[in-house]
Amino acid sequence: MAGDPSAANQQSSPPTAGVTGAAVVGAPHTISVPVSSSLAKILNPSAASPPRVGDASSPGDAIEPDITADDPEHDADDGYESEGVSDATTSLSSSIRDFTWENNRRYHKYKEGRYSFPNDEPEQAREDMRHAMVLHLCGGRLHFAPLENPQGILDVGTGTGIWAIDMGDEYPSAEVTGIDLSPIQPDWVPPNVRFIIDDGEAPWLTPPGSLDYVHFRNMAFVIKDWPKMFAQAFTALKPGGWIELQDLKFDYSCDDGTMTEDYGPLKMSHLIHEALARFGVDTHSADRNPERTEAAGFVDLRHSVIKLPVGPWARDKTMKTVGLYNRSSIYDGLHAITMGPLTRGLKWSSEEVEVFLAGVRKDLLDTRIHSYITWHSICAQKPLSASR
Ligand SMILES: C[S@@+](CC[C@H](N)C(=O)[O-])C[C@H]1O[C@@H](n2cnc3c(N)ncnc32)[C@H](O)[C@@H]1O
Repeated sequence: MAGDPSAANQQSSPPTAGVTGAAVVGAPHTISVPVSSSLAKILNPSAASPPRVGDASSPGDAIEPDITADDPEHDADDGYESEGVSDATTSLSSSIRDFTWENNRRYHKYKEGRYSFPNDEPEQAREDMRHAMVLHLCGGRLHFAPLENPQGILDVGTGTGIWAIDMGDEYPSAEVTGIDLSPIQPDWVPPNVRFIIDDGEAPWLTPPGSLDYVHFRNMAFVIKDWPKMFAQAFTALKPGGWIELQDLKFDYSCDDGTMTEDYGPLKMSHLIHEALARFGVDTHSADRNPERTEAAGFVDLRHSVIKLPVGPWARDKTMKTVGLYNRSSIYDGLHAITMGPLTRGLKWSSEEVEVFLAGVRKDLLDTRIHSYITWHSICAQKPLSASR
């Protein structure tokens, strides 16, 4: 359950209990540093097209953005900029702060092996780039749940904390808590944001009925027991509070016949699915989670889906940019997303993985192939009539 209690950061404000009783890290709360510098600002989401998800108040949106392929002569890359957010230094005890190394990548030490992907700086930069990409895709919106003056916000598996920090900026009167197994969050954050190092799948000690919003993003490759997550979130939320799951689903598809079953990224996603299944993780959870939220007692389910091009092949300007970022994020992350699952789960050698990835890279760069993945937002509300 809890991390090392001695690891709690020295905070000038009274220490607050962690979600599962764990170590609180992050902001020296007397220092108020506006950290609104997410990569989204580089992409200038205000200039983006309006949200393509449609009105979040309409349930069951199946979004069909324009991802018509552009003319072949425009298939060339336009280039992009990216910038990492700070790496973490914390005052945590070494047991939680430690890392472990495997195949030249750095992994979390606390609850070692629980998460199959690295937490090193290249991976952090990639997560931040995905944050910017999703914001651009969603017209700058951080959430689709219809929040009204939220006070208690929990981000499970916060990663670099970039979403939590942006939420803290957007809702200055809310207390935003991000929890993660890895201490990779920045020290200086808005005064209403804090980070806790702990296992989000352990029993939560959050007081029942205390939160307005529980958020999971890109956690499909992580969470083993979603029904347990939903039950915990239901208890922790106030009546009328919202849960939201945002996920990139790597279900490589194609609408114009340019992708075949031999497409390297498609084969890769099948292999990762098979490997993570051996650790009890279902990478297709976005398909089943809508009904699971309802089984947990949530109501007013809203499921939005957006197609996300892999590469800059779409005619629409926003989708072209998003496609370029999407492909870069996949391309740059190939080693990170395959090495752990395929060596640990399928017992491949690292050399076998490298050989396989050469073919995946080639296919990813082939702009004649118009593949896409999907982005999902699933929101649901704890009934107003629910007792705490
Ligand atoms: C794919 S990243 C997503 C990060 C963040 N939600 C985002 O979208 O930017 C998954 C994160 O979940 C964290 N994680 C994995 N298992 C966890 C667990 N059991 N409890 C808390 N965090 C966990 C990992 O350390 C990693 O930072």
